[in-house]
Amino acid sequence: MESYTIKNLMFSYPQQERIVIDGVSLSVSKGEFVVLCGPSGCGKTTLLRQLKTVLAPHGNRKGNIFFEGKLLDELDQREQSSRIGFVMQSPENQIVTDKVWHELAFGLESLGYSTPAIRLRVAEMASFFGIQNWFYKNVSELSGGQKQLLNLASIMAMQPSVLILDEPTSQLDPIAAADFLSTVGKINRELGVTVILTEHRLEEAMPLADRVLVMDEGKIIADGMPKEVGQMLDRENHRMFYAMPVPMRVYAGVPNNLDCPVTVRDGRQWLDLFSKDHVINSEKINSHVALTSDISPSVEIKEAWFKYEKELPDVVKGASFAAYPGEILAILGGNGTGKTTTLSLLSGLNRPYRGKVMVHGKEISNIPDSEKFENMLGVLPQNPQSLFVKKTVELDLYEMLKGKKLSKDEQHKRVRRVSNLCGLTYSYCRNFNINSNTPDYFYRSILFKRQKILFYISSHYFRNYDSFCHDF
Ligand SMILES: Nc1ncnc2c1ncn2[C@@H]1O[C@H](COP(=O)(O)OP(=O)(O)OP(=O)(O)O)[C@@H](O)[C@H]1O
Ligand SMILES: [Mg+2]
Repeated sequence: MESYTIKNLMFSYPQQERIVIDGVSLSVSKGEFVVLCGPSGCGKTTLLRQLKTVLAPHGNRKGNIFFEGKLLDELDQREQSSRIGFVMQSPENQIVTDKVWHELAFGLESLGYSTPAIRLRVAEMASFFGIQNWFYKNVSELSGGQKQLLNLASIMAMQPSVLILDEPTSQLDPIAAADFLSTVGKINRELGVTVILTEHRLEEAMPLADRVLVMDEGKIIADGMPKEVGQMLDRENHRMFYAMPVPMRVYAGVPNNLDCPVTVRDGRQWLDLFSKDHVINSEKINSHVALTSDISPSVEIKEAWFKYEKELPDVVKGASFAAYPGEILAILGGNGTGKTTTLSLLSGLNRPYRGKVMVHGKEISNIPDSEKFENMLGVLPQNPQSLFVKKTVELDLYEMLKGKKLSKDEQHKRVRRVSNLCGLTYSYCRNFNINSNTPDYFYRSILFKRQKILFYISSHYFRNYDSFCHDF
């Protein structure tokens, strides 16, 4: 039995010539775990949203979608609500009540279930998802990971036969994300629910998948078991190959006829087999590029201490490090360990009560904002939306140049240069709230000003960042 059958689906957004879904035909069997991946903007979200009519965007659609053998358009909303579960990116936007227990019951209440039936399902879900300990909490007290788990549990309370997830872990830290994905794996294995997932954390998602679909420019360009898809992408030298799990990339790097590993465990076994017939040169790779003492750091933080209020505990405790020109320095840590706060010290937004922050050898508090943010530093916050001031990408790009003494021609050139570099030409005249490619877009506000130092706060958007740095 097929959960979905899609026949020659074409889709374009209103008043746009560009075809976003370009002749997609595929079927997903019941109980299958499918991972859909592809570069940003290739149409994954647009495709997934077609699979539940209330979420389908307006536009010109051709082709047919069947859900469990029936035309999706003919399936009533009530049935779709209970049988097709959809988890989106942001945990915040999906929660509708203020208490955990109420959120779990809400979907069932709106479908008109009896109180005893609701109680039973809610209790089952709370124990399946390990929610008992925070069952009576306010939703506002939950961490991002808990909120997303609550979304998932509330959807699962309706016992859907298909679960569709669109980058559900993008706002979670790595530990919460790994927990979340393993719960999705458990739902698929133990409850037999069909899962269709888009995910950029392929390292964790691929081992769960029965099948991987790779999308590019609106087309499905590879479809198969994870190990087959890795090999296909490698053969075609496709850029998505670099997003494949590390064991696959190592495997593809040396000629061999063994089975392609997907997980780290498979990778170890592969390495054992491979090393039987091959000598592995264990020469050490020098991973630390020594910086000569005559280069001075771009930014430096020395023994900095910071707390938000006098009576509150310290958040940054004697932090010291330096970043040198051309270097990419990553600050890693779990939720709430002070990463964003440290960046706020580096950008001068907050001041340490003890210690120093130096930018190009000058104490940051002595640099006027006009100088600091004009050519020196750029800060990209976690939520890209907070940078947008105008209605369309184009207007916003020109807004950035306001106040600069540049000719119309020069302004035009700069806007073109930046939009080409960031791959924004398609979204140029589009509204922000409708565009998926916000990360690409928001690079621009930094590029324009030609800053020397870029601070970038993210748990997830780092994915395109190294290529971006390279181009820049
Ligand atoms: N509401 C909309 N109106 C017009 N164009 C849109 C709209 N939503 C998305 N697009 C465009 O359609 C294309 C596909 O977008 P989509 O969101 O499906 O990509 P995606 O693969 O999900 O990307 P990401 O990995 O960034 O989430 C992009 O070029 C995007 O700019
Ligand atoms: Mg998307």
